[in-house]
Amino acid sequence: MTNEIKVVPAVKISGEITVPGDKSISHRAVILGSIARGRTVVKNLLDCDDCRNTIRAFKDMGIRIEEKGGVAIIEGRGLKGLKKPARAINVGESGTSMRLLAGVISGQDFAAALEASGGLNKRPMKRIAEPLSMMGVDIKTSGGGLPPIMINGGRVKPVVYKLPVPSAQVKSAVLLAGLYAPGITTVEEAVKSRDHTERALEYFGAKVTVDGLKVSVEGIKELSGRRVEVPGDMSSAAFFIAAATLLKGSSLKIKGLGINPTRYAFIDVLLRMGADIKVSNRIDGFEPTADIVVVGSPTRGVVIDKNVIPGLIDELPAIFAVAALSKGKTVIRGAEELRVKETDRISSMQSNLRAMGARMDTAGGDIVIEGVFRLKGAALKSFGDHRTCMASVVAALAAEDASTIDDTRCVSKSFPAFFGMLGKIAH
Ligand code: S3P
Repeated sequence: MTNEIKVVPAVKISGEITVPGDKSISHRAVILGSIARGRTVVKNLLDCDDCRNTIRAFKDMGIRIEEKGGVAIIEGRGLKGLKKPARAINVGESGTSMRLLAGVISGQDFAAALEASGGLNKRPMKRIAEPLSMMGVDIKTSGGGLPPIMINGGRVKPVVYKLPVPSAQVKSAVLLAGLYAPGITTVEEAVKSRDHTERALEYFGAKVTVDGLKVSVEGIKELSGRRVEVPGDMSSAAFFIAAATLLKGSSLKIKGLGINPTRYAFIDVLLRMGADIKVSNRIDGFEPTADIVVVGSPTRGVVIDKNVIPGLIDELPAIFAVAALSKGKTVIRGAEELRVKETDRISSMQSNLRAMGARMDTAGGDIVIEGVFRLKGAALKSFGDHRTCMASVVAALAAEDASTIDDTRCVSKSFPAFFGMLGKIAH
């Protein structure tokens, strides 16, 4: 059974909302809460398929996690307190779970297998196996560097590792393994990827040093349980921000949104495109938050360079939708990482936007979108990918006539409430 949805064009996006908790921070809260000593209480933990997979993985390793009314209580058992799981841990389609758990299991005194479902079986794991092997961990991927992976944990030594591709998941796997290594583990990136792991590690009591593009963590005996409040997810808000920008009469307020500088490039790019976005009420917690107001406005094409890509990697599909209806040309360089997400998001978005009459050319990681005046409704496909699905819905809301999108169940990977919230703010 599919779950096709009809998307009728909207006139405006308006209202006041909070978006669900940040997916990346939710994963980290569960992971660090599980390996800290004592109780961690997490408010606004994102309830989605991916985060549930991380929670289930730690339950499989003996951690008590209770969820009640948007609050998760995690009874952490200490850095080495995980129990050998009875069988292989299946992390579903969650790449973050697989890569970050590999780092944590590297430090445990047992062997465990991490299995994937669906599209994750096609996503690269050699990128974590390589640095973890350099740390002395016995880790094996399946043929072609793909899941499942097998980790025989227990012996970890520090490493200085230069990331070949900027990736927060790979950086995090190394830093988490580094907690178990005697001495200092350093990861160096060419461009800074999201820094939620560094922030969370420090918040839970690890000794973290950031020196430009180098992040170091010291091996430690214990982390301690904390209270965490997860801010709203910029990557989920992005779809509403893009739609509100495109639809001229819009006025949308989003409260309590995470505005970590490593996740802010989407707003910066939209501002360069001419969007009207105002930020107020900044609060500097272990992760900064603010309220934003987006008013619909005309947009123009911009150049987005390779070094900006890691800061808006998950928001690029939403940017494609805005660029398709902006004046002039948008040129995006070096976005090839988008081809190894839940689906090849460059080709999935190109296929949907072209079906609507957009002009989008691609070569490897380079993309040129020549804005058009109008998009027409079309039969769109999600390609089983949550962000392709939601970004295509954004384009469809701004089209001239109705579209369909074939299978929308995938949105539950990161944003189960997407269509419900959209129904309330799209007019
Ligand atoms: C994530 C990092 C990003 C992002 C993904 C979540 C994370 O991937 O695309 O959705 O939580 O660390 P990279 O590892 O490619 O940076």
